[in-house]
Amino acid sequence: MNIATHEQRILHVLAQGGAIQFERTTNAKVREIFFLTRKGHVLADCSLKLFDRLRKRRFIKSENGQPYRATRLGIRSVNPQYSTDKDIQEMKKPTINPTSSDDIPGLKTVLDGTELFPSTLLPYMRAPALKGETEALWLTCHQDGEAVGLCYTVPEDLADGTWNMLALAVRPELQGKRLGAALLRAAEQHLKGKGQRILIVDTSGSDDFALTRKFHAKNGYEEEARIRDFWADEDDKVVFRKAL
Ligand SMILES: CC(C)(COP(=O)(O)OP(=O)(O)OC[C@H]1O[C@@H](n2cnc3c(N)ncnc32)[C@H](O)[C@@H]1OP(=O)(O)O)[C@@H](O)C(=O)NCCC(=O)NCCS
Repeated sequence: MNIATHEQRILHVLAQGGAIQFERTTNAKVREIFFLTRKGHVLADCSLKLFDRLRKRRFIKSENGQPYRATRLGIRSVNPQYSTDKDIQEMKKPTINPTSSDDIPGLKTVLDGTELFPSTLLPYMRAPALKGETEALWLTCHQDGEAVGLCYTVPEDLADGTWNMLALAVRPELQGKRLGAALLRAAEQHLKGKGQRILIVDTSGSDDFALTRKFHAKNGYEEEARIRDFWADEDDKVVFRKAL
């Protein structure tokens, strides 16, 4: 049977006891999915499009509103060459999860290392999201079970479908290993899945932030605006934008 490698990997994880949790819109359409391994790690690489393809081919099924799991056909369709060793290697790959309270100590270390903002503020910043008072999106990147990166994005007041990424940080010794890009992609996928339109990110025009600007440009963000001397004299605010 002709199944792309990426689909094979997802089916393999499902055949090993993984599941796809989902949320529906009011008209019963699946609008958001969380792809979980047997151990509950969220993997960021199952898009809604891929999910639809697996569903249409009857490789996955949900019974009585429960998460989608591999059907017999799905399990039979997994290529036997997909060895357990390979699966274990995949599991060691970074995973992106919605931030939980257990992540806070690790994320404080990330903030202390990057000095993005004082780590003592983290619990206060998270509180409105925990109380359901805001739609803010908090994502944590885990590597080998440790929280090593975060992404914090909020909807812009008075705008329709425009979000602002207020924080993105990766533990210093792990920077440059594509974890930041993985976090960014997970946030973009999540927002896109919710029908959101635009993601913006403010940064600085100073030399200290040259690598950060390069990072955004590499990930498809365009410099949209520059406010001179915004942060301080000779420290411009640079606004990057990406259509989702
Ligand atoms: C900016 C940041 C989130 C990027 O995450 P990352 O995991 O280091 O970046 P990735 O590995 O996904 O991408 C690497 C690319 O981004 C750029 N980059 C930005 N910061 C970098 C860093 N510290 N080390 C290496 N590359 C970096 C480079 O252009 C690199 O591409 P290249 O190797 O082809 O030159 C991370 O470096 C970080 O936490 N920096 C400190 C905090 C910060 O500035 N946050 C952004 C403001 S909200």
